[in-house]
Amino acid sequence: MSENLTVTDSRTGKQYQIPKEIVLPENLTVIDSRTGKEYPIPITNGTIKAVDLRQIKVSPEDFGLMSYDPAFMNTASCESRITFIDGDKGILRYRGFPIEQLAEKSSYLEVAYLVVNGELPTKSQLEEWKHNITHHTMLHENIKKFMEGFHSDAHPMGMLASTVAALSTFYPDSRNIQDPESRTLQAYRLIGKMPTIAAYAYRHRLGLPYVYPDNDLSYTGNFLNMLFKMTELKYKPNPVLERALDVLFILHADHEQNCSANTMRCIGSSQADPFVAAAGAIAALYGPLHGGANEQVLRMLGEIGSKDKVPEFIKGVKAGEGRLMGFGHRIYKNYDPRAKIIKETADQVFEVTGRNPLLDIALELERIALEDEYFIKRKLYPNVDYYSGIIYQAMGFPTDAFTVLFAIARTSGWIAQWQEMLLDPAQKIARPRQVYLGADKRDFVPIEKRG
Ligand code: CMC
Repeated sequence: MSENLTVTDSRTGKQYQIPKEIVLPENLTVIDSRTGKEYPIPITNGTIKAVDLRQIKVSPEDFGLMSYDPAFMNTASCESRITFIDGDKGILRYRGFPIEQLAEKSSYLEVAYLVVNGELPTKSQLEEWKHNITHHTMLHENIKKFMEGFHSDAHPMGMLASTVAALSTFYPDSRNIQDPESRTLQAYRLIGKMPTIAAYAYRHRLGLPYVYPDNDLSYTGNFLNMLFKMTELKYKPNPVLERALDVLFILHADHEQNCSANTMRCIGSSQADPFVAAAGAIAALYGPLHGGANEQVLRMLGEIGSKDKVPEFIKGVKAGEGRLMGFGHRIYKNYDPRAKIIKETADQVFEVTGRNPLLDIALELERIALEDEYFIKRKLYPNVDYYSGIIYQAMGFPTDAFTVLFAIARTSGWIAQWQEMLLDPAQKIARPRQVYLGADKRDFVPIEKRG
């Protein structure tokens, strides 16, 4: 955040607020040992611009210096006003609001409004937002036919990614990305239809008839209805489970420039429509190092099997025989604040569903890991995925559907990131540079002459 200085114009006596760095520019002075030349590189918001390095050359023909940063370990790809994380202190805020307050006092759709639009809604804005999302939950009947083509053992994340990409063909108007009204309509469609697709994917695999959305229910209540309704005329969600799912969705709504948000921005930067961009983001989330970790945690706990096997498992992890899934984070070097809230939510859920026996193994694993030098030294703490799967399983979700729940909630974040990217005049098509280390020019050798 830039600080302002008050500057007085002596000719007019008028006072102006000018960002401090314009009046007193902060520089990084770089001395190129190859040439002895000195370059002042301006520092803004704790960053230098990578393109400012291009002036550093050994000769006029030289392309200029680039920065090399595989996996974006220390590169900001954008300026953002959506989500703030302090990884060392374990702080997460959406649009300035602490995650703890939002999880306690808000609802997922209200948080989705905040994340996408930047401010908490007024009562009427929230009603309109809810109404519009609720009235975009239905899918075109052809989508059902499309989904029927999947095998009964198809992974729900593959089904979700493909079906969301297919929505692009149902809504060609979504290519109108420069029109704010069209963008809002696509936001309603994406947030509204994601649970319906997820529920159809679930029921398709079980061979159950699809359940149409019920507009009388809340966002998560309706999702539970589309998943679990059987022969009853009206599905009544359990209020504790409905609220728990809502809290979990709030916790997953956005997480700044992670792998899937970056994918959404990257695809969106080519001006593709938001459905195919979201399909790409879903694909990124699917991976076990990202959202797919919640599924892997459950598989891991199942494999460990009992509390007494935990020390042996930890020994294996330390010997490099696999990772402790649900632990560690690129940004958090402290307890993930979302994991803390999830742990509390778990108790409320288990009062309804009964205690998930895997919880005892998870607690023991956490206890031993947090006391172990290997994990302490590397600052590895439980992340959002460590406890979420245990709750989802207790609520009746199959293990491979966990990442789908993450995707539903993260949709609002992806939309916010995509929109911010489109409206940012500094952004262009995303196109990283490379350091080419391959073969130098060589002549083609006909196949009969190759050794
Ligand atoms: N278990 C054991 N060792 C680990 C783990 C883990 N879960 N995570 C990191 N390490 C070690 C790693 O081996 C490395 O050790 P060394 O320095 O001796 O080589 C060190 O810690 C640093 O790890 P890194 O892989 O360089 O860190 P990263 O920032 O590239 O990776 C991560 C972050 C989340 C991919 C990684 O911690 C991990 O694989 N965790 C397990 C998967 C997981 O839970 N993912 C969900 C992330 S939260 C939800 C989301 O946003 O998607």
